[in-house]
Amino acid sequence: MCGIVGAVAQRNVVPILLEGLRRLEYRGYDSAGLVIINGGLQRVRSIGRVASLTADCAAQQVHGHIGIAHTRWATHGAPTESNAHPHVSGGLAVVHNGIIENHEELRSRLKGAGFSFASETDTEVIAHLIELYYRQSKDLLDATRKAAAELEGAYAIGVVSEDSPNRLVCARKGSPLLIGLGIEENFIASDVSALLPVTQRVMYLEEGDVADIGLLSVNVFDAAGNKVDRSVHISELSADMAELGNYRHFMQKEIHEQPRALTDTLLIAVAQDHIQPEWFGFDAAEILGKVDAVTFLACGTSFHAAKVATYWLEEIAGIPAHAEVASEYRYRTSVPNPNALIVTISQSGETADTLAALNHAKSLGQDKTLTICNVPESALTRASRLKFLTRAGPEIGVASTKAFTTQLAGLFLLTLVLAKLRGRLTPAQEVEHLTALRSLPNKLQQVLALEPEVEAWSHRFANKNHALFLGRGVHYPIALEGALKLKEISYIHAEAYPAGELKHGPLALVDEDMPVITIAPNDQLIGKLKSNLQEVRARGGELYVIADGDVGIEESEFVHVIKLPGGHNGALSPILHTVPLQMLSYHAALQKGTDVDKPRNLAKSVTVE
Ligand code: AGP
Repeated sequence: MCGIVGAVAQRNVVPILLEGLRRLEYRGYDSAGLVIINGGLQRVRSIGRVASLTADCAAQQVHGHIGIAHTRWATHGAPTESNAHPHVSGGLAVVHNGIIENHEELRSRLKGAGFSFASETDTEVIAHLIELYYRQSKDLLDATRKAAAELEGAYAIGVVSEDSPNRLVCARKGSPLLIGLGIEENFIASDVSALLPVTQRVMYLEEGDVADIGLLSVNVFDAAGNKVDRSVHISELSADMAELGNYRHFMQKEIHEQPRALTDTLLIAVAQDHIQPEWFGFDAAEILGKVDAVTFLACGTSFHAAKVATYWLEEIAGIPAHAEVASEYRYRTSVPNPNALIVTISQSGETADTLAALNHAKSLGQDKTLTICNVPESALTRASRLKFLTRAGPEIGVASTKAFTTQLAGLFLLTLVLAKLRGRLTPAQEVEHLTALRSLPNKLQQVLALEPEVEAWSHRFANKNHALFLGRGVHYPIALEGALKLKEISYIHAEAYPAGELKHGPLALVDEDMPVITIAPNDQLIGKLKSNLQEVRARGGELYVIADGDVGIEESEFVHVIKLPGGHNGALSPILHTVPLQMLSYHAALQKGTDVDKPRNLAKSVTVE
């Protein structure tokens, strides 16, 4: 969703701001803008891509040593130039991520105080509120702090004023914001990837922090106004990790990066001879040893990973597990279990629904919390007692791919740890599981080699309006994930069902225009699945089966089969069966000519409820 970049330097900051915005494009946005202070405020805003903002800045020869920039994903007010950030009031300008819940009340108060509004946004109230206090104190930090104290909701804000041409003030609550530290130059951003070309040294702001940033100084104050030290981190990410390289799309690159991403994620485990709770934190043995159930809270693809894990946990670790859609959890009356392990799963670590669900779980006295997350120092990792970092690297494509398979890897390790702590694993099983994990990246590489066959299927999908995905058992969530991927990037309507449910309703949809994509591992349900497939064929449905090599389903005119190398892959089978579905949606989207990495209406990090 929205992105923030700000800079104060001795050099021209315009290229830094524009490159930062370009690097935040993946988050999803519909307009972009910046303000530079060069004598007075110079503002440029543009609907659409950062490229058009860049062209406008070049045409207007904008340059200066301090500025703030923003990509906006419309919430309050349409994606128009007047609604694009920065918003100005008097001689100051503001960029904002998040949502101000009391904006209507503030708007009428500010109108009463004589301010007029030029946009429909909630952000504009922040600009005027800071200006109101600035008129009294003539101090940007003081005014920002006072205004921030009156904001309800979530915000990360950057503020500059033409009266203070070497001073950048920022504040955060509920939305992420970090400070990038350079040499005689400093930066702010909502996401570290925006700053990687200029610095890897970052300081994450905490809830309620306000910071005053100059060329040579960074002063951070907590919500109570005390000056505080926030630790400096060296980001493990490098500027080129978020580059496309030889690939056509980030999604394609990220699908192909999966063997590497899994190798990195599993490194902590496969280098060992034994399963160890410490993979999840130094005090994990104590916390995990006391839990008697697992509750997952997650959204979208991360929710599907949670669903897979519930099957693993009940079968292998013998512990009750259930997965909740995070956006629903806090609005229903649930029965809290103080001994449950609350597991949040998130690529970004900043999904507002998941964060709110975690806080709700804690407020119900459930404090044994773990997050499985791809972003160190994200809001979720900081809010959880235990953490497991997936090492997928930056995921730029809106459609989650490598984040999903690495989440599954982390969840499988959690399953093994809980199984061991509960006395459910023999030493031989322990060795067997670790051996299987060691060979997973290679097997995944072999599945990627099936891409030409998957691509050939995709040609048949381009003219379809609907598709049905079937799976059984632990592969049902993989069918859900396949359907989500297809609808998300190709805009083909897709539904997923456990194959046994077909006859209870969805079979009515099946005809020759409904492709039925089926996951067919050679597990204990294969006989029943084959019967379900006969039900489809008997109604004229065309089958696309992704099968284990030894499953014994043969190709015919209306039955298309792609066989994974070898036989059944045991508990790790869902990870391998996911990849052809990712490739299928990617190639179907190419056939349809959609914007693969930035599908319409979607954002990468969903930071609003
Ligand atoms: C996946 O392809 C989607 N873009 C989306 O469902 C995503 O998984 C969801 O928004 C959760 O995001 P998170 O993992 O960053 O919390």
